[in-house]
Amino acid sequence: MARLESFEKLVSLAKRRGFVFQSSEIYGGINACYDYGPLGVELKRNVKQMWWNAMTRAYDNIVGLDAAILMHPKVWEASGHIAGFSDPLVDCKKCKTRFREDTLPEETMKSKECPECGGELTESRQFNLMFKTQMGAMEDTASTIYLRPETAQGIFVNFPNVVDTSRQQIPFGIAQIGKAFRNEITPGNFIFRTREFEQMEMQFFVHPDDADEWFETWKARRKAFYDTIGIAQENLRFEAHGPDELAHYARAAFDIEYKFPIGWSELEGIHNRADFDLKQHEEFSGKSMSYMNPQTNERYTPFIIETSAGCDRTTLAILCEAYEEETLEDGSVRTVMHFHPSVAPIKVAILPLVKKGGLRELAQDLKDQLKNHFNVFYDEKGAIGRRYRRMDEAGTPYCVTVDFDSKDDNAVTVRDRDSMEQVRIPMAELKAWLTARISVG
Ligand code: GAP
Repeated sequence: MARLESFEKLVSLAKRRGFVFQSSEIYGGINACYDYGPLGVELKRNVKQMWWNAMTRAYDNIVGLDAAILMHPKVWEASGHIAGFSDPLVDCKKCKTRFREDTLPEETMKSKECPECGGELTESRQFNLMFKTQMGAMEDTASTIYLRPETAQGIFVNFPNVVDTSRQQIPFGIAQIGKAFRNEITPGNFIFRTREFEQMEMQFFVHPDDADEWFETWKARRKAFYDTIGIAQENLRFEAHGPDELAHYARAAFDIEYKFPIGWSELEGIHNRADFDLKQHEEFSGKSMSYMNPQTNERYTPFIIETSAGCDRTTLAILCEAYEEETLEDGSVRTVMHFHPSVAPIKVAILPLVKKGGLRELAQDLKDQLKNHFNVFYDEKGAIGRRYRRMDEAGTPYCVTVDFDSKDDNAVTVRDRDSMEQVRIPMAELKAWLTARISVG
C-alpha cells in the first residue's frame, strides 16, 4: 500500500467527509486551531477510550484524574514553566514574520536577513509559550493565570490527595486526558502542531531504585499500544533525547516517533522525571510531597516515569496510516480509510437496496437492534455503489445490505471494506458476527 506523501489529500478528505474543519472557518479561520466534525469526533473519542482502557482499566495500580485547566499561578513557577518554557524568537522588522531561531539556518542568523522578504531580523529573544489570562472581574485586582501547557502538573499536585484517598501504594500511576494550550511560534502541518490540543498523560510513581526498570517497561508497553489502534510497528521508532535536548525536568527521555508524510516526528514522549516535580512543589507549597512505605516505614520522594501522548497527533497518525487510494481491477480508483475497527468512527452501515417493498422497514429494524452495541449509520439514498464508496472514505469496516431476498431468507449481505468481499449472514446471527470482528479493547 503506497504511503501518503503529503497532508494535502488528507486535509481535503478530512474536510469533505467531516473529520476535521478549520476553526471559525466562516470568518476566514484562526491559525493552528481545528474543529473535529461528526466523523472526527467519533474517531478521537475512540482513541481516547482505547488509551483510557489501556492505561487505567488494564492495571489495578493506575487510577484516573480530571484536573482543572486553570491552576494556581505558583504551580507554573514551581514547574519551571514561567522561567523556562520558552522558544528563541526573531521577528522580521519589514514583513513582521516571526521565526523560531532554532529552525533558521546558521547563515540566516549571521546575515540577519529575513528568508521571506530579505528585511532585517531582530535580535533573538525568549518567547514564553504559555497563554496568559486574568482571573477575577476587576482588572486591577485580578491575578494573572495561565492556560495549562501540559496536563502533567494537575497530576503532580494531586499526588498526596490520591495517596490519601485511593489506597494505592507505590508503584502506582495516575492517568489523565485533557486540553493543553501552547502559543507555538511555528504551528502547522495540519493537526500536528496546534495551539490548543489534547494530551493523554500518565505519571507513574516509583521508588528511585526502580526508576530505570520502570522506564524500560513503559517504553515497551507504550510502543505496543499502537498495535491496538492500527498503527504498524514498522512505522514507529524510538528516538533518544541527547543530553543537550533534555527538558529541564528530565533525567532520561525517549520519543516514540511516527513516520508522518513530513518525516519521522514525535508522537509521544516517555520521560524519567526523577523527583524534580514533587520536590519543586514541596518547596513552593510548603506541603510534604514525600511518600512513606507502609510496610518498611521508609520515607522518600518518589521518582516519576511519565508517558505523554498527544491525542490530536495520534489521530493524525491514524488518519495517515489508514489512507489509501486503491486502483481497482476495472481501473477505477477508490479512496479508502483502513481504520482498525477499534477506532473506526462508524462500525457498521445499514443500507437497504431500495426504500420500497418493505426493505426500509426491515433495515431500520436491524439498525434499531444494533445501535445500542455499535455506532451504526443508516443510509437509504443513492446507488448502492456510491453508498459503499462513501463508507469506504469514512472508514466503515462493514456495510450491511438489505435486499429483496432478505424478506425470504432472513439474511443480509455483509461487505468487507478492505477486501470488498461479500458474505451472506442470517440476520439473527448478525450481532454476534459483527461483535466478534469489531469489539476490541
Ligand atoms: N508533560 C510532558 C509534555 O508535555 P511534550 O513532549 O511537550 O511533553 C507531549 O508533549 C506530547 O504532546 C507530544 O509528544 C505531542 O504528541 C503532544 N503535543 C505537544 N505539543 C503539541 C502541539 N503544539 N500540538 C499538538 N500536539 C502537541
